[in-house]
Amino acid sequence: MARRRRIYEGKAKVLFEGPEPGTLVQYFKDDATAFNNQKRGTITGKGVLNNRISEYLMLRLAEIGIPTHFVRRLNMREQLVREVEIIPIEVVVRNVAAGSLSKRFGVEEGTALPRSIIEYYYKNDQLGDPMVSEEHITAFGWATPQDLDDILNLSLRINDFLCGLLLGVGMKLVDFKLEFGRLWENEEMRIVLADEISPDNCRIWDAKTNEKMDKDRFRRDMGGVAEAYQEVARRLGILPEGGPGDVAGPKTMQ
Ligand code: TMP
Repeated sequence: MARRRRIYEGKAKVLFEGPEPGTLVQYFKDDATAFNNQKRGTITGKGVLNNRISEYLMLRLAEIGIPTHFVRRLNMREQLVREVEIIPIEVVVRNVAAGSLSKRFGVEEGTALPRSIIEYYYKNDQLGDPMVSEEHITAFGWATPQDLDDILNLSLRINDFLCGLLLGVGMKLVDFKLEFGRLWENEEMRIVLADEISPDNCRIWDAKTNEKMDKDRFRRDMGGVAEAYQEVARRLGILPEGGPGDVAGPKTMQ
């Protein structure tokens, strides 16, 4: 393969220069980190599964009119995406208490929240991604009030759609993290969904047993991490019994 210019290397992905201007190749690694890089490991096959899961979810979201950076999957570990200017905010949407929310407010994990809660974190590893308010975001100029309005609306629509999609195949969307970017087309700027949507940045529980099917299995040393990611892909209908491949949409659970 021809040498490509590496644009950025994150904890779980690498971004390379794409084949055409304005595109990037997003490569999914098997590396996993948690607690801002303090815990590190490898989950064999994770990159392949996240590439496939994120492709599927981004395509489904595009079908309902959510603009995304996703163009197409290139191979097992890579996808072509539009180059966007990443807004340095991590948007967390929560439906059920878990993780840092449970810790911060002393709410037992698994408690349904009275309504979905949106939180913003400033994307800065050196500072440990501190939680911020809309005031911080607009005052420091990370996003405008109009950007934030778009981000909030998109996040709520994404949450509604993904909750329904996952519940249809027996999974509960507890919470998840999104990133957005700015995309310019003919002097016009649009906010689009970027990064990835996978069990790395979602909490997904089995709807009946509440068994964890996401990166918490790695964060909490529970084992069976790759198997859990595989089960998410299987239920979404994108991992047929014979192995990874292309099949149509999810099969509803009985
Ligand atoms: P939290 O409960 O640790 O704040 O995490 C909320 C959600 O955000 C959870 O689904 C995991 C995801 N997340 C990331 O994707 N990246 C991060 O750096 C953190 C802290 C959480």
